[in-house]
Amino acid sequence: MGAYRWDSTLETGHEVIDTQHQQLFAAINKLLETCEVKKGSEELTKNLDFLNTYTIKHFFDEEKIQQKYNYPDYPNHKQYHETFKNTVKDLTHRLIWSGPTEELIKEVYSSIGDWLVSHIKIQDFKLAKYIKSKNTPS
Ligand SMILES: [Fe+2]
Repeated sequence: MGAYRWDSTLETGHEVIDTQHQQLFAAINKLLETCEVKKGSEELTKNLDFLNTYTIKHFFDEEKIQQKYNYPDYPNHKQYHETFKNTVKDLTHRLIWSGPTEELIKEVYSSIGDWLVSHIKIQDFKLAKYIKSKNTPS
C-alpha cells in the first residue's frame, strides 16, 4: 500500500476546499509513513494530533461555506463530518494504545484515506456543484 496521490479526479473546483483537502491527504500520508516505518511514538502522537486538529478545522470551514450558501443538504453533510471526526478520534486512541499494528494500518487506509476519497467525490462534489450554480448568474 502506498501514499494517496492528489489528482484532478479529486478537484471540486472550489479553491479553499481543494487546498484544504490536499493538506488533509498530506497529513494522512505522513501518518501512514510514520506507521509503516514504525517511527517513535512521539512522532505518531504528533501526526495524529495534527490530523485531528486539521480535520476539525477543515470541516468547520467547509460547514461555514455551506451555511453561507444555505446549502440544503447541510444537516446530512454535517452528520458525515461528525461521524468521520469520531472515527479519527477512535483510531487515534487505538493507535496510541496498541501501536501501529497491521490491522490498524489497514483501518487508516479504509476508514480514513478511502473514506475521504469517496466523501470528496460524492458529497463535496455535490456541494461544489451547488455553490457553482449559486455563483453563476442566470
Ligand atoms: Fe465535506
